[in-house]
Amino acid sequence: MIGRALVVDDDRHILEVVTFRLQSLGLEVTATGDPSKALQALRKERFDLALFDLRMTPMDGIELMVEALDIIPTLPVLIMTAHGTIENAVQAMQRGAFDYIVKPFRGDELTTRVQRALADRRLARNLERLQAIGRLLSSTGRLETILEAIVQTTLEATEAEGCAILLAGEKGEGLRAMASHGATPLPSERLHATAAQAMAKKESVSQEHEAGVTLAAPLMVEQEAVGALVVELSRRYPPSQEERELLQVFASHAAVAVRNAQELSRLRSGALAALGRMTAQVAHDLKNPLGGLKLYSLTLEKRLKARRDAKGQELAQKIAMAVDHLSDTVTEITTFARPREIHPSAMKVHLLLDECLQLVADRIEMKQIEVARHYDEDVPVALVDARELKRAFLNLIINGIEAMEEGGSLGVTARWEKEAGEIEITIADTGKGMGAALRERIFEPFFTTKENGTGLGMAIAKSVIDLHGGRIEVESQIGRGTSVRVRLPMKERNG
Ligand SMILES: Nc1ncnc2c1ncn2[C@@H]1O[C@H](COP(=O)(O)OP(=O)(O)OP(=O)(O)O)[C@@H](O)[C@H]1O
Ligand SMILES: [Mg+2]
Repeated sequence: MIGRALVVDDDRHILEVVTFRLQSLGLEVTATGDPSKALQALRKERFDLALFDLRMTPMDGIELMVEALDIIPTLPVLIMTAHGTIENAVQAMQRGAFDYIVKPFRGDELTTRVQRALADRRLARNLERLQAIGRLLSSTGRLETILEAIVQTTLEATEAEGCAILLAGEKGEGLRAMASHGATPLPSERLHATAAQAMAKKESVSQEHEAGVTLAAPLMVEQEAVGALVVELSRRYPPSQEERELLQVFASHAAVAVRNAQELSRLRSGALAALGRMTAQVAHDLKNPLGGLKLYSLTLEKRLKARRDAKGQELAQKIAMAVDHLSDTVTEITTFARPREIHPSAMKVHLLLDECLQLVADRIEMKQIEVARHYDEDVPVALVDARELKRAFLNLIINGIEAMEEGGSLGVTARWEKEAGEIEITIADTGKGMGAALRERIFEPFFTTKENGTGLGMAIAKSVIDLHGGRIEVESQIGRGTSVRVRLPMKERNG
């Protein structure tokens, strides 16, 4: 089907002839002699073209057209008129008709004019679509959102059954679907194979098969194919040159979005690396003077004690505490900057979690937070670096506590995923949650939304989990809470 047409004429014979001709062009036709029925249909369904007879009662073709354009402003309307009423046809054009046809139809005039109207309509719609994508690209949208929109638009423009954007992994691993729409599940093997071909050839390719045609266009970034835009068409004939070009235009839009995202992340990580080095240097330089300060404050405290100056002694203790806090921060920063290695020993993860909860017991009590612990009995003893892992869990737990007002609840669970051979630890809070944009940045070193945060908690947690060969995933809903899931791969040990 290339589109849907609405035909209105009170002459039965004309109605039949026109319907037959349009159907043989591949159009789906709704035909009626009653203008009010036509308006009803326009309100309910989507049409790409309308043909109205000029002379009808009680409503003539021009009146009908004016109401129809009120319902679908972009609808191309062709007015059919008998010889001798050309002035009326001209008037129809002035009031918004796309074209007029004189009855009786001569040769293939009807066909030509209908095809022109359809082509014009397609062009107008594709232009609208491209403009919408252009606007989206120039806004600072997320990559996923932009790719989703491109897939959706491509699906509409090509009237495909399904559409997907596949991207190659950064380290050259296999193709991954970033966005997909339409008939589910999409036949992924075929999509992947056609996408890979288009990427290898660096031009659009199509593949015919029993269910139709798969068409793919590569996403080119700096002369490299980084992925492909693929559509599944449910028909037997090969795609036209026009369709290939249209797909290529959408693919190049997607490529621009991918390049923007890559540049942004390169910029961010370059700046972050420089910032990290500088911070590590500063932290390192602070270490020695802080050690000195700690020593002086202890000596001071001893002396004041000897003089029985209780007030002074208290002050000296406060200085020592503040210095301790500073040293801790410095240690965090320097150990973060240094690539660490892990020293595994046999450990029950439950114990680590309990120790962390113990460390923050006072904060939990102060905020009247309810803690719900669920540890599966069968979680095995695992080989982990207890100290490092504790640092990771502690940061996650503290984030959870900090996200909640008084009276929230903190869920801490550990489960053994036997099939996968993984221990799954979940730390869930009922706090303020995060939006997608925030969630994307939480693992960046020094990214924080807190007045006194250093923004290292999540980065540290991630690097520790990475060192254990694990994964960390964050799910969050604004106003509902956040759930952080850590998966640690383990080989089960006996006993
Ligand atoms: N459970 C959570 N709920 C809501 N937001 C969170 C949660 N965990 C992390 N975040 C967001 O991620 C940001 C980064 O967290 P991260 O732990 O790395 O740094 P921080 O907590 O701000 O500072 P610190 O270095 O003291 O941990 C936080 O500022 C916060 O906006
Ligand atoms: Mg934190």
